Amino acid sequence: MKLLVCGGAGFIGSNFVRLRAGEHGDEVVVLDKLTYAGRRENLSGVPHTFVHGGIEDAAAVAQAMEGVDAVVNFAAETHVDRSIAEPDAFVRTHALGTFVLLEAARERGLRYLQVSTDEVYGSIAEGSFTEESPLEPSSPYSATKTGADLLVQSYTRTFGMETVICRGSNNYGPYQYPEKLIPLMVLNALHGDPLPVYGDGMQVRNWLYVTDFCAGIGHVLAHGAAGEVYNVGGPDECPNIEVVRRIIALTGADESLLTYVEDRPGHDRRYSLGSEKVRALGWEAQVRFEEGLERTVAWYRDNPGWWEPIRSGAYREYYERQYGSSLG
Ligand code: NAD
Ligand code: TYD
Repeated sequence: MKLLVCGGAGFIGSNFVRLRAGEHGDEVVVLDKLTYAGRRENLSGVPHTFVHGGIEDAAAVAQAMEGVDAVVNFAAETHVDRSIAEPDAFVRTHALGTFVLLEAARERGLRYLQVSTDEVYGSIAEGSFTEESPLEPSSPYSATKTGADLLVQSYTRTFGMETVICRGSNNYGPYQYPEKLIPLMVLNALHGDPLPVYGDGMQVRNWLYVTDFCAGIGHVLAHGAAGEVYNVGGPDECPNIEVVRRIIALTGADESLLTYVEDRPGHDRRYSLGSEKVRALGWEAQVRFEEGLERTVAWYRDNPGWWEPIRSGAYREYYERQYGSSLG
């Protein structure tokens, strides 16, 4: 199979390309704009063809789609805090980019998988979201991801195009950019820097090890029914404060680094995703949170060559803007 993977130089995309080009022996073309979150190094040693460009650029998309059998779209702006500070790129990539990709895939009669998120459902106090739950996104990130999902579904309803949507819960694991909770806390803990917990730290996330999400996406790509949505949730839920305490224990950092800071506006309290539908396709999560977190801490500890250039580059400015005043 020849796959076009959009956003394949990012965190989940690069793990997916590694899985498909390695274990599955697929031929993979990666289309990636290489934003701050995309890095060629994430794919070093992984066979693929690389096209540098945005999914909103029809010429780059046409070049990348040549001869492919299916499209998997990971390309996105993915950080909620950045969507609050600067939503522009979120609207452009999720709305316009998804549209350009869909048009090109429709013209060529290609199967199309949209990678989406549990955040489109909003927050849930008890129980778990199903694929039928109403869409109630809270942030510019999740609202624009929701818009993209609806556009994708309209291409099946209106044009009969073969699309599927895969909604994942919070991912963690190797190659995650350190703006997200787990890698941020791991690297700060390893450096003896403050660990900034938003609000009371009792927000709950449903943690999914990245290779489990990639396997779920593979199942949906192969067996998902056209026009359907499949939730892929992790096996464990954990409040943020407990995640941070576990990282303190795994890194041997000092408890006094824990710092409560101002809460994120519109902060979703809890995510929880029911995955019965994708289980019926034969998928099951393999990695429990305790084991996955240990592996993740070990990976960051063993790979300073990956994160050192990030922490000393433009990330510094972002970090100062986001946390500077609250961490003094
Ligand atoms: P990431 O931020 O690590 O990577 C995003 C990638 O997309 C980068 O390589 C970036 O260069 C590329 N990109 C951004 N805009 C682009 C554009 N206009 N054209 C082409 N490439 C572009 O993101 P991630 O965490 O790997 O997330 C990948 C996908 O999975 C996203 O669609 C996200 O919404 C979804 N998702 C993420 C999580 C999570 O916990 N990280 C959970 C569920 C779903
Ligand atoms: P994040 O990794 O940004 O993922 P998402 O917002 O998409 O779930 O954040 C995960 C949780 O951790 C979320 O409840 C916000 C919280 N958080 C902090 O408490 N401190 C931080 O510095 C960050 C980045 C997140």
